[in-house]
Amino acid sequence: MAALQALAILLFALLSFEVSTTTSTSHHHKHGLKSLHFTLFQHETINKTGYIIVNGVTGPAVGQTTTPFGTLFAFEDPLTETANRSSKLVGIAEGTSITSGLDGLRAISIAKITLRLKNHKGSISIVGGTHNIKPSDHPVVGGTGDFLFVQGIVTSSPVDLEGITVVYKIKFNLYWPPYAAQVSLS
Ligand SMILES: *[C@@H]1O[C@H](CO)[C@@H](O)[C@H](O)[C@H]1NC(C)=O
Ligand SMILES: *[C@@H]1O[C@H](CO)[C@@H](O)[C@H](O)[C@H]1NC(C)=O
Repeated sequence: MAALQALAILLFALLSFEVSTTTSTSHHHKHGLKSLHFTLFQHETINKTGYIIVNGVTGPAVGQTTTPFGTLFAFEDPLTETANRSSKLVGIAEGTSITSGLDGLRAISIAKITLRLKNHKGSISIVGGTHNIKPSDHPVVGGTGDFLFVQGIVTSSPVDLEGITVVYKIKFNLYWPPYAAQVSLS
């Protein structure tokens, strides 16, 4: 049945990703501009960490990769170091997306990503368009804590879209503007 097939594909995807998942954080200080580059994995379980709040009105039905135009979705998903859900939890992505493509494949997403990395704790906020089956760039609009004033891009790419839990690879390219180092909040 379809469920068995989905399980087989899920297992295959998990096994094949095992090879390519090592989390490394890299820092750079070029011309005084601090930056941080790393990759995490987001796990979204339908009706457990992500829910349809308002049904859409037209376009494709709710499927593995589509939702009707206008669908309002909300989520609070764990972010882990590798594609394996049992790997170290280092963050949480909380947000909402609204299906904005009449093809049911595109959405406008806003999210707050809370991170507990080794040397950086705080949150970043992102907003942008998400494509359900292609990599999507989300501009970083700001941050809190150690990510105060941060800018950059967060790229989300689908890793595994089969089964109850879908997995996305989330690549962070963060940059601190020069003035970030000169400001301290009291
Ligand atoms: C999630 O819950 C909704 C509403 O109860 C239900 O219609 C839908 O089939 C559920 N989806 C899955 C994948 O369990
Ligand atoms: C995921 O990690 C757990 C705990 O480290 C391990 O037991 C399990 O085999 C891993 N799963 C896969 C599919 O590699």
